[in-house]
Formats: sequence, C-alpha cells, structure tokens
Amino acid sequence: MSRIDAQPVVEISKLWTVFQNGDKKAVIHKDLDLTVERGEIMSLVGGSGTGKTVLLRQMLGLETPTQGDITVLGKPAAELGKRGAASRVGMLFQQGALFSAFTVLENIAFPLRELKCLPGDLIREAAMVKLQMVGLSPDAADKMPSDLSGGMIKRVALARALIMDPPLLLLDEPTAGLDPDSSDSFCALLRSLHQGMGLTVVMVTHDLDTIFELSTRVAVLAAQKVIINDTPQKVVAFKHPFIQDFFLGERGQRAMALLNHAPPV
Ligand SMILES: Nc1ncnc2c1ncn2[C@@H]1O[C@H](COP(=O)(O)OP(=O)(O)OP(=O)(O)O)[C@@H](O)[C@H]1O
Ligand SMILES: [Mg+2]
Repeated sequence: MSRIDAQPVVEISKLWTVFQNGDKKAVIHKDLDLTVERGEIMSLVGGSGTGKTVLLRQMLGLETPTQGDITVLGKPAAELGKRGAASRVGMLFQQGALFSAFTVLENIAFPLRELKCLPGDLIREAAMVKLQMVGLSPDAADKMPSDLSGGMIKRVALARALIMDPPLLLLDEPTAGLDPDSSDSFCALLRSLHQGMGLTVVMVTHDLDTIFELSTRVAVLAAQKVIINDTPQKVVAFKHPFIQDFFLGERGQRAMALLNHAPPV
C-alpha cells in the first residue's frame, strides 16, 4: 500500500464556518473535526440548517471555511475548485442537478467537455458507458431532463458525477423525493458502484432506510461539531437528544430491524 492509499480520503480539522448576515454572525461549524477513511460509505446526518451541504461544498473546494483545514486525497480542498476537480471528486447536488436545456448525454458529458481536450466521439462514448453503468438504457441518451422520472434524474446526475472515475463521491440527499422502490433501487446501484469502482462515499441523508442499508459509518452533526463518527450500531447507542429523536422514533425502529437482517457492505 502506498503512502497515499494509507491516508484518510478526507481529513477536516478545527474547522470554523461563520456567516455574516447583516450585523448578525451565524456560527455554523465550530472546531469541527471529521476523518473519512478509504472505502467508507459515510452518512452525514444532522438537523436542517446544521451545515451539511456547506460542509460538502467545502470538501469540493467550492466554498472556503472561515478557519481550519480540509485535506482531500492528500491535498488542500481549495485546490480542487479548479479545472479537473471532477477527476478527483464527484458530487451529486441536493437540488436541480441537471441542465434543463441539455440532453441526458450532454449532461453526463459536461465535465469532460469542459476540459476541452478530448475529441467529441470519445466524450460521447465515455458518457454512454456511464449511462449504462447507472442502469439506464441507451435510448435515454437523447431525452431531455423534463422527460425523466425523479429516479432517472438522480441516475443521470450520478453518471455525470462519475464521468471521470473520481475516487471520492459526495452525495447530498440522493434519495430525497424518491418513492420507496426507486429509493431502494438507487441504494442497490450505489452499493454495486461502491464495490465495483472502489469508491469512498460521503452521503448527506435524512433517510433512515438509506442510512442503514448503505453506511459503514455515520457521522452526526450537532452543536456545530461532529459529535460522533462511528458504526451505525454504535451511533444508535450513543446518548444524545438528537440521536434519540432521529433514530429511535417509529421509523428508526423499522430501519434498525433491517440493519439486524442485512449488515451494511
Ligand atoms: N453563503 C451563505 N451565506 C450565509 N448563510 C449561509 C450561506 N450558505 C449557507 N448558509 C446558512 O448556513 C446554514 C447551513 O446551511 P446548509 O445548507 O449547509 O444546511 P443543511 O444542513 O444542508 O440543511 P438541510 O438539511 O435543510 O439541507 C443555514 O442556516 C444557511 O442558511
Ligand atoms: Mg442541505
């Protein structure tokens, strides 16, 4: 194993995020630490507005924290914001993932076209491979996003995030808004891609079924910090009001029954 392989994929240390809204300061993250090891599927959970999306955008280098360090694949995250970032980190955004005026194939190919260094037929071929990899048929290639179901839109967005085979995939609420069947099949797809491509995944989700089906670890964001980052079983047993509410309600009990029958990958 090389030195790079042994390093955590993401290392966040003493991170502060402070937003200035008029004359008010909002402290979103305060001395937050988080480590993601290679090959994990980490679920990041926390109440609405606790700064989960902001944290993913910082890992991608799209936003700069007020203070602290974020290292992604051995380099400062800020360096990822530049051209070619898609070869290192893929991101599935929480909202409006696709360009509505582009076809499915144009959407998937977008990060490769942006590089402006590959011939068009090669780009098309690479995008077709990814289209099939996410379980869509070749005739979806020329459809417009408005013709797709919610589950198909998520798959196209996933194909685009994976177009350059990045080792790290960031997902913001990947199953939100999907019906239970589409959500289950999206989870199955993620699990097989994780195994097949050797991906490390950080996934923000509120969905307990998704958490218990996929996560190797769960990190909980509360009180501006990651209060625990451990296996789903250990996190559920951790005494904290947010965790008790989140996991031990009726839906949580149901999802945990699933955990007892089907251990995560
Ligand atoms: N650029 C910004 N300027 C000022 N405030 C911001 C900015 N970006 C985010 N915020 C605030 O930071 C907080 C965290 O936002 P974020 O979108 O990360 O929450 P979240 O945990 O993803 O919530 P949800 O579960 O609802 O998606 C929110 O209060 C948001 O309004
Ligand atoms: Mg969010």
